[in-house]
Amino acid sequence: MTLSRPLRKAVFPVAGLGSRFLPATKASPKEMMPIVDKPLIQYAVEEAAAAGITDMVFVTGRNKRAIEDHFDKAYEMESELLAKGKEELVDLIRKVLPRGCRCIYIRQSEPLGLGHAVLCAQPAIEDEAFAVILADDLIAADPPVMAQMAALYQREHCSILGVEDVPRDQTASYGIVSPEEQGTGHARIKAIVEKPAPADAPSTLAVVGRYVLTPRIFGHLASVKPGRGGEIQLTDGISALLAEERVLAYRFAGTRYDCGSKLGYLKASVELGIRHHEVGADFAAFLARRTHA
Ligand code: G1P
Repeated sequence: MTLSRPLRKAVFPVAGLGSRFLPATKASPKEMMPIVDKPLIQYAVEEAAAAGITDMVFVTGRNKRAIEDHFDKAYEMESELLAKGKEELVDLIRKVLPRGCRCIYIRQSEPLGLGHAVLCAQPAIEDEAFAVILADDLIAADPPVMAQMAALYQREHCSILGVEDVPRDQTASYGIVSPEEQGTGHARIKAIVEKPAPADAPSTLAVVGRYVLTPRIFGHLASVKPGRGGEIQLTDGISALLAEERVLAYRFAGTRYDCGSKLGYLKASVELGIRHHEVGADFAAFLARRTHA
């Protein structure tokens, strides 16, 4: 195993149905829903690139062609825009895939769970540590969260999970960790459990969609039994990994928006909208007028 190498690869599980956003997601992937003018998956890829990652591994399913097209070259659009003299827009669409990065697509043909999706990426990862980014969890942070985690990985050379405190009544929506020490920036994890009821949760520290995992996770994912919801859970694979390796919980600096929910998606749209270089000031003025009306 080559754990001394910097992170080079990220896995983006994008095979989910997006049923919480129907009918918007009936024919197009939830990861293509925009916050202002960029799809969620592009924020995730840019975050990976900012961490020095170059190989973007998408685990896709049916209805996800739009993601492949989004990161591909758009010849017809480029030539039409060029003919109209819109060089700036050509530049914008050419930069959708960050410079020096490449995309790898792997199909998850059955929806067997997040752990199974990550296991599907094994042929593209092989024997090195890698990142997993869930595009639903949009995190505004400077430096970006995966860059913070990649820096920690360079010092610790072990698996790291991005975590934040959630209200106790929400533990059933997350993987919940029990850290060795409370209140520190990062701590070794003693246990992890998928979506416990509030009364059973060992803490209120929730895993949000950022992981750095060592390749030993694959052996565990291949052997864990279906867990919560009858799915192969990434959390259960990590729970088995804990028994043989150090896994850290990292409290990142940043603000997370749960864009897998309508409310979180709207909050992200407002927050990133008021910071947008083109429309931010006008949008903020509009919101202020509405509040005082
Ligand atoms: C998944 C994971 C869960 C994690 C969450 C973060 O759940 O299974 O452990 O806390 O992502 O967003 P999902 O939201 O896909 O149900």
